[in-house]
Amino acid sequence: MSNDKGKRAAGYKAAELIQPGMQVGLGTGSTAYYFIEKLIQRCKEGLKISGIATSKKSSDQAKAGGIPLIDPSELGILDIDIDGADEIDVKMQMIKGGGGALFREKIIANAAKEMIVVVDESKLVKRLGKHPLPIEISSFGTPSILKKLENLGVKGILRKNSSELYKTDNGNYILDANLENYSGDLKQLDYKILAVPGVIESGFFWNLAKKVIIGYEEGHAELKDNL
Ligand code: A5P
Repeated sequence: MSNDKGKRAAGYKAAELIQPGMQVGLGTGSTAYYFIEKLIQRCKEGLKISGIATSKKSSDQAKAGGIPLIDPSELGILDIDIDGADEIDVKMQMIKGGGGALFREKIIANAAKEMIVVVDESKLVKRLGKHPLPIEISSFGTPSILKKLENLGVKGILRKNSSELYKTDNGNYILDANLENYSGDLKQLDYKILAVPGVIESGFFWNLAKKVIIGYEEGHAELKDNL
């Protein structure tokens, strides 16, 4: 079960790691929300940083709170990226994209010298795949893309927003693929998924997280460099 106190504790602890002058990746989701909330507070107290958001939602939050934002056309190397995860295993491999922001999240995580992941305990797993794997796919020729994915054993449901198909900030669809019973090598499968024309990005985040902050229900959080 997700817990709000744990998410807040993790997000707030991450905000304490931000140093003056840093260029910061701002994640998406309910845990990253708390990180941005605390960062806004620190900026109001005088911390000078700049950020780049992984979604429109986080961008709106940061902008409203007065965090100076880097234009995506000027994205270079970031000092740090703080983001949530849907699942994280003992090797710190992750599934992300439950909030639909995986494409920008992956670009920003890769641009950062260090990615620190903020989660509550419920996100820790032995093996990835219980949570559906979000795959961002083109809205052009969707049935054909889905067929190619199905041939790889990747099936699921196109995400919906009430009765409409959900569209990402980039105007694409999300397939939430069910890999719960997939017993093969997930990294190998990911290479094949990413090779399908029309697949924009997958929610597997390999070798990106350097540290994890785990927030607990009692309201405290721990920074770990291994799990
Ligand atoms: C957004 O697309 C996701 O990758 C989120 O980072 C992930 O879903 C975690 O979200 P919560 O912090 O809301 O659980």
